Amino acid sequence: MTSRRVRRRSVLTLAAAGAASVAAGVTGWVTGIGASGERSEPGASGEPITEPEVLSSEDGVLALTLTAAPGVSLAGRRTSALGYGGGSPGPTLRLRPGDVLRIRLVNQLDQPTNLHTHGLHVSPRDNGDNPFLSIEPGQSFDYEFELPDDHPPGTFWYHPHRHGYVADQVFGGLAGAIVVSGGPDFAAAADRLLLISDISLDGSGDVLQAGPPARMLGREGDLVLVNGGHRPLVPARAGTLQRWRLINTCTSRVLSLRLEGHRLTQVSSDGIFLPAPVERDRLVLAPGSRADVLVRPLDRGRYRLVTDPFDRGHPGMGGMGPTPDTASEPITVAELNVSGRASARAPLPETLPEALPAPPPSLLPGSVENRREITFTMGMGMGMGFGFDGQQFDARRTDQRLPLGVTEEWLVSNSTPMDHPFHLHVWPFQVVETSTGSGTGDTLRDVVLVPAGGWVRLRVRFSDFAGRSVYHCHILDHEDLGMMATVQVTS
Ligand code: C2O
Ligand code: CU
Ligand code: CU
Repeated sequence: MTSRRVRRRSVLTLAAAGAASVAAGVTGWVTGIGASGERSEPGASGEPITEPEVLSSEDGVLALTLTAAPGVSLAGRRTSALGYGGGSPGPTLRLRPGDVLRIRLVNQLDQPTNLHTHGLHVSPRDNGDNPFLSIEPGQSFDYEFELPDDHPPGTFWYHPHRHGYVADQVFGGLAGAIVVSGGPDFAAAADRLLLISDISLDGSGDVLQAGPPARMLGREGDLVLVNGGHRPLVPARAGTLQRWRLINTCTSRVLSLRLEGHRLTQVSSDGIFLPAPVERDRLVLAPGSRADVLVRPLDRGRYRLVTDPFDRGHPGMGGMGPTPDTASEPITVAELNVSGRASARAPLPETLPEALPAPPPSLLPGSVENRREITFTMGMGMGMGFGFDGQQFDARRTDQRLPLGVTEEWLVSNSTPMDHPFHLHVWPFQVVETSTGSGTGDTLRDVVLVPAGGWVRLRVRFSDFAGRSVYHCHILDHEDLGMMATVQVTS
């Protein structure tokens, strides 16, 4: 893709003035203005992996109170980071298809918040998965999410979605996993959650604030955590199989994961099983995305799970002074600690059930009722005007209007010099074609990384759930800056 390269190069030239200070000042850049300059240090590393408390539904219902408040322990330190019910991540919610999830959200933050069930195929109306609600400080709100009986089993998550505060709150620690049970269990010796987040903390455990340049780029924290722990050790016995539910809850960081000495066998993507397992040397997870992988160690030893640098482009200078770069050093996220000895790996299944039927194949005539084009745009100057189709988010404006029941094809283009992960609430989509020629498939998903200067073609079937919701960039700083738009599905 030459256009991308040319664009990147001119952007690099623009940024050259800031390069020296970026190279010299690798510490604490995320703080922007008012940086303490110190690098976040964990209090503890290499401890055995821990998981948040699991709350499971009973007789078709899971009812709980989630209190969002500061003051959780992270990476072995007391911090003023944010948590749900005193933890970051918050409790894991285990549901079955057909269940009702009732959450009383209590806001003990000093700013408004709300709750979004990322990837769940549930109604966006009223007290459902409604991103337009605002729960004020000191207030509480009763949510109710009704999962359809044919909801795909898989890995989803929850996080705040109050426009203007999303990046600060998710970066601050507010996130938790949702597991919809069902489907094959792979006879796994362990079924683990690896919720991967990043954060920057100062010496007294306060979360560092992001300045305007870091927001335009999309802030990345100095500490990459798994279930709130720093570089945890994941125990395994040689010859057995583990299932890892990977969730990228980082505000902006694209994870480019590899496990030393192993391939990752991917069985699902964004909570939906693939038709067959896919062996990968590397798994790229954009912010918001999930993947379930099987890990089958054979030999004892320690193997690092590493995220490698991923260049997601650069917003340019925009008169804001030096802007940081997105490419960092490889970072160890966790370590697999294999004990014992085995002569053979546990067997793998050859096929997997498809949990939701994919939309009709792209070449089938008459399968698409409507087409539309949507473009990620960035204006020039202060604030950079992050948006879609030249407009910043306005909750009162309806950007896409369509009738319930249609299958649509959306061409999502990216006219900017940065990659943006496109995310649509409620209605999962199929990626049928991309500008890079890769990344397509029969499986539905809810996040796709649209490369700088590139495009993706999606199919979305709006077969159920009338209502109003949003699509946005899942670099949450961009979303807060206005890279979000509304969709109204009418019955
Ligand atoms: Cu996880 Cu609207 O996002
Ligand atoms: Cu979402
Ligand atoms: Cu973006």
